Amino acid sequence: MSIVPPMVLTREEMSFDFGGARFDVERDRELLVWIFDQFLYGEVTGIQVGHWLYRAPTLDAANFLARQAVEELQHVDRFLEIFGILSATPGPAHPAVRFLSTGMMSDDWNEHVCLEMALGEGYVLTVLYGLIDTLEHGQIRSILQRATRQEERHVAFGESETIKALQEKPRDRRRLLGLSLWSLVAIGLLARAVERRASDEHPVLRQFPDFLRHVNRTTELRLERLGILNAPFSEIGLLSKSGMMSFAAVGHLANRLWPRRRPRLTATYLQDARMRSGTNQRGRAGHAPHAADGTGDEMRDLTDVVDLE
Ligand SMILES: [Fe+2]
Ligand SMILES: [Fe+2]
Repeated sequence: MSIVPPMVLTREEMSFDFGGARFDVERDRELLVWIFDQFLYGEVTGIQVGHWLYRAPTLDAANFLARQAVEELQHVDRFLEIFGILSATPGPAHPAVRFLSTGMMSDDWNEHVCLEMALGEGYVLTVLYGLIDTLEHGQIRSILQRATRQEERHVAFGESETIKALQEKPRDRRRLLGLSLWSLVAIGLLARAVERRASDEHPVLRQFPDFLRHVNRTTELRLERLGILNAPFSEIGLLSKSGMMSFAAVGHLANRLWPRRRPRLTATYLQDARMRSGTNQRGRAGHAPHAADGTGDEMRDLTDVVDLE
């Protein structure tokens, strides 16, 4: 399996300092259940990885996505464990979460890796870091910590694929920036929904407006490091912002209605970089990658996935 480079932002850069404020599992049970309702929906959208596996541009990407699908579906079970700990039944997700996770889904690989993986899973990761820092419940925290390590890899993969995509097609930059601005609008709507549930007295939630500014700043930094944003959001005029958002919305809609399909791996695999990698060299030396006894690298990769349980 190819190595995924580290994320373009560090954990420290993505973490918000809540100044020692904490959630209380008893006092905040209803609010925490609502927060985990949103996470559960996001994890169930792991089924969408199957769509991208079928459209993966390279064997490395296909390998990564197969593993990601297993991890996301494992996360569904881990979040159900949290509902069990809270003695709660899952409820529906907020429309903004459904829009970010499913509504923004297109048939375009570049949109997927940038919007859904680098940015979307990046938002999830920022909230996970926040929950780990503010929730003292040991069992819930350890479930979140395990999921976080896997989400970091998903974000890093989305980022590295976005960088590659923009090297191949630099003119996609404007469209991806427009879509990123739409995703920040959805995050703002979600933040207002959280604020409506919070009292001014709550030690964590009263910091939410600052946390939202932090999410905007880290998104700005991520977009800069991905080569999508050249100047801070504040320097982009309102007219220019709405122009980019309209342009992106039209492009997104067009991709959904008339998807441009690249050839499937079943047609291109012989030209794939993996065919010239060490995996194949070992195969030629007598250790067949697809050996019937399951000792090939592909099988070992899948074994790694199972071990994650
Ligand atoms: Fe996940
Ligand atoms: Fe993920």
